[in-house]
Amino acid sequence: MKRIKILDSLTESESLKTRTDNQKLINFGIGDTAFITPYPIIEATQIGLGTNKTHYTDSKGIVELREAISSYLQKFDIPSTLDDIIITPGAMQAVFYSLFIHVEEGTKVGLFEPAWLAYNKIIKVCGGIPVFCSLKNNRLTITALEVFIENDVKVIIINNPTNPTGKVWEKKELDILVNYCKENKVLLISDEVYNEIVYDKKFISIGQYKGINSIVIGSFSKVFSMTGWRLGYIYSKNKKNIDRINKLQQITATCPNSFVQYGAIDFEAELSKIQTQVAVYKRNRDLLYKTLSKINLKPLFPDGTFYMWVNVGMDGKKFAEKVYNDYGIVVVPGKPYGNDTQNFIRISYALPTEKVIRACKRLKDIKWVDAYKKLGGEK
Ligand SMILES: Cc1ncc(COP(=O)(O)O)c(C=O)c1O
Repeated sequence: MKRIKILDSLTESESLKTRTDNQKLINFGIGDTAFITPYPIIEATQIGLGTNKTHYTDSKGIVELREAISSYLQKFDIPSTLDDIIITPGAMQAVFYSLFIHVEEGTKVGLFEPAWLAYNKIIKVCGGIPVFCSLKNNRLTITALEVFIENDVKVIIINNPTNPTGKVWEKKELDILVNYCKENKVLLISDEVYNEIVYDKKFISIGQYKGINSIVIGSFSKVFSMTGWRLGYIYSKNKKNIDRINKLQQITATCPNSFVQYGAIDFEAELSKIQTQVAVYKRNRDLLYKTLSKINLKPLFPDGTFYMWVNVGMDGKKFAEKVYNDYGIVVVPGKPYGNDTQNFIRISYALPTEKVIRACKRLKDIKWVDAYKKLGGEK
């Protein structure tokens, strides 16, 4: 009954909105890319379909793809064997599995505000209690972690690079967090689905840290524009984690989609092309950051992902309604991302640059923002 209530409490803004075909509308709302899946992956999938790769696979996923993921993880200095990897139907499912096998009724789970809104809900559906930690200047210090000690948090989930802020966690922050988890015997789940969408900073994976109970989550969705394929993976050096997740996958999904796995085997060959897309995101980021700063909004400068987190100085929902009604621009209100996120919006800028330029042209009229803020967002 309680779980059903949590699901029923999902508001419309949190549910997936369908992509609109309305040319006039510029949709910064959806966490998807405007790019198409690399053709060699599509072709390999078609071959899989044509050669009877259409049956159940090993519940952990096919050996060839696990081998490819294991080889790819070396890029991030992650030593792995096939037994450390399990392929899942998307990263969201991987987050659910990872939390479900560790969270019991009342387990406190730490997360950093603002946090991708699914975490909070999944923690609650598993019976856990989310504990939010706020970061001063968006950087982790030891003192920020006190809230986790006070609440006896048993599991922490981070997202690096972060949806919705675009934060890329620095080495010294990860060192602090990992030491904390080691000392307090806390499981650290690191959702790294945007690992290749990083601009000027260096991305560091939690997988390279030894002597810690951790789970790393990856996905093909965002990096390879494969959101609809439902393909992700889990890496953990802790055999118990992998065994339990495997058992859970066996009784919920059986295995990931077969031909999709065959299609993805050579994914590493596509990585160089992905850099062209990352360059587009970076250009979009720069354009938006400049425009929004000029109209007296306060965007946080993203170092990765394709999101921008913006303090609009008034209720984010009202602001979103205003830009939708008057400017034909869709943005997401920030409230569901934390406890103190009411005055924020999230912008997803994985769009063609022409659209971003068009949006910037519509937005750059300074007067409306100031006038609107003065009115507290009332019409
Ligand atoms: C932080 C984060 N993790 C996971 C996902 C979901 O990834 P997937 O499509 O692989 O389930 C998203 C999608 O928005 C996300 O932003």
